[in-house]
Amino acid sequence: MRRVLVAGNWKMHKTHLEAIQVVQKLSYRLDPADYERVEVVVAPPFTALRSVQTVIEADHLLIRLGAQNVHWKDEGAFTGEIAPRMLQSLSVSYVIVGHSERREIFGETDEWVNRKAKAVLAHGMVPIVCVGETEAERDEGASEDKVRRQVLAGLAGLDPEAVAGSVVAYEPIWAIGTGRTASADDADAMAALIRETIADRWGDAAERIRILYGGSVNPGNIAGLMAKRNIDGGLVGGASLDPDTFASVIRYWM
Ligand code: 13P
Repeated sequence: MRRVLVAGNWKMHKTHLEAIQVVQKLSYRLDPADYERVEVVVAPPFTALRSVQTVIEADHLLIRLGAQNVHWKDEGAFTGEIAPRMLQSLSVSYVIVGHSERREIFGETDEWVNRKAKAVLAHGMVPIVCVGETEAERDEGASEDKVRRQVLAGLAGLDPEAVAGSVVAYEPIWAIGTGRTASADDADAMAALIRETIADRWGDAAERIRILYGGSVNPGNIAGLMAKRNIDGGLVGGASLDPDTFASVIRYWM
């Protein structure tokens, strides 16, 4: 019922020329049947969005375009920021909001994440709202409370239909870029908690919203994660930078 989604978050990697090569190579490795099973998204840096959009359109690729961040305002004196309308006009489909690197390094608050999610939806794009605990929070047994709070705050004020069409990515911070993954059972348990949290507030939307796992996803661990009931896909960092590796993640059943 929920379409599988595998999104590559390239973070601050790749010039626009490198990005074109990666997307072309990735497309050579994927068949139409792969896109039927999996919705494939790449989220390059802003400077490569236009180039990647052009390749996708020229070659009629089924790869969807994502952005890594956005401001919530339509325009204004916000040096260095990017407005939702600017992404929309580049055929961006997905926007990552509240990635832990934005929260931890650049001080993004739950309230900003919520404003961003709303702005993304208002412009016909899908927010990928990221949540997840630090290692210290995990050790203190505070993971569930933190994730519950981030989910409720990130989606606050949305109607059930908007929630159903959104994506939440559970990314435990201790698993990002470390080579340590949450076990498939632990990741599924947290995804289940996210679904219950959403069910309490938004009812049936909880069965329709897609929940991704992120944090050192690679070709060796993706199948185990995907076998879990509550996990609908992956948000992939390092393993999305190389087209061969990313194609192997996307074709997780092979
Ligand atoms: P890694 O896959 O490199 O651990 O990054 C995960 C991530 O932060 C994706 O958004």
